[in-house]
Amino acid sequence: MKPRKDFLQFARPTITDDEIAEVVECLKSGWITTGPKVKKFEEMLADYHQAPHALCINSATAGLHLALLSLGPKEGDEVITTSYTFVATLNTIVQAGFKPVLVDIDPKTYQIDGAQVEKAITSKTKAIMPVHYAGAPADLDVIYSLAGKHNLKVIEDAAHSIGTEYKGKRVGSFGDIQVFSFHPNKNMTTGEGGAIVCRDEDTVKKMNVYKFHGIDRDAFNRFSKSGSQEYDVIYPGYKYNMLDMQAALGLHQLPKLDGFIEKRTHLANRYYDLLADVDALILPEAPKYDHKHAWHLFIPLLDTDKAGLSRNDFIGKLKELNIGTGLHYQACHLFTYYKETYGYKKGNFPNTEYVTERCLSLPLFPTMTEKDQDDVVAAIKYVLKG
Ligand SMILES: Cc1ncc(COP(=O)(O)O)c(C=O)c1O
Repeated sequence: MKPRKDFLQFARPTITDDEIAEVVECLKSGWITTGPKVKKFEEMLADYHQAPHALCINSATAGLHLALLSLGPKEGDEVITTSYTFVATLNTIVQAGFKPVLVDIDPKTYQIDGAQVEKAITSKTKAIMPVHYAGAPADLDVIYSLAGKHNLKVIEDAAHSIGTEYKGKRVGSFGDIQVFSFHPNKNMTTGEGGAIVCRDEDTVKKMNVYKFHGIDRDAFNRFSKSGSQEYDVIYPGYKYNMLDMQAALGLHQLPKLDGFIEKRTHLANRYYDLLADVDALILPEAPKYDHKHAWHLFIPLLDTDKAGLSRNDFIGKLKELNIGTGLHYQACHLFTYYKETYGYKKGNFPNTEYVTERCLSLPLFPTMTEKDQDDVVAAIKYVLKG
């Protein structure tokens, strides 16, 4: 089989003339850092989630860190999450001063296992951090009922799931704190960036202070005509603000998000049809509860026994045919830092290990054509035929 002409990336942002014009306008305006465009984007995000507040930050990583800090961590406090996530989920737990307590996932849907969360709760647990993996929601009723019973906060790592719905409600339209990512691979982008949605006024105030040097008012007030030059610092805070240049993209991405998700859904459904007869691929299963999948990622598992080759060799052979794939993600408990610091080891989370040894993300983005997708499927079938 001949490789396709050009390399097909597994993800690609959809940027059109609207975004470009808004960025150019921003650059010419004389105001490129945090300012009116961020404010407007925050209002749009709050509106999209029917929430009183949305805070823009420069990454979801920053957002998770702020959300965790807002809980006021004390020595020995624990946060429960899964090992099957991007390591930012765990790193921010540690950076905020918590101990990460890991649990396993459902190997078919990749979502956090509620029964294991329950078993992991101790008197030190402060919060649960479910990850809405790949754009499907975690089982939030289970998580919030445990949180209610044990007086815990829930910080939803919603990096994959802007536009996801759980039982008819949009993720971010209820619950404690949700953190979204606008990294270029995500369902909408601001270059890099993220947003926190939260309903509690005091928590929002705290996160706002931590977000910008611990200063009690933001730069926009400080530098605009109506703001004052003086400020107080009440915490040695961070520099996590989003720029107007980034928000310029977001202002045009958010209104298109539902359309992007429709295209992703069409392609995901088409993958299910086209790959149904490929024995060596185990296709992801949708959670049983009612939901709307945002289809950030389409992650089948390679049945390495049936395929007769490793996942990494499979990825390599697809690459030779100019088909890009993603690896989302490695098992976090097996990274050196987490093994050495918390004593995690191979065998701790069998479902996570099973999935992370076999997973690969197939190309999926709104401007991907059916012809592109046919090339992916043809390459997969060719490589697996041996
Ligand atoms: C589950 C998860 N959480 C957090 C992040 C961090 O997002 P960001 O790159 O916006 O910091 C990612 C990024 O890929 C992610 O996949």
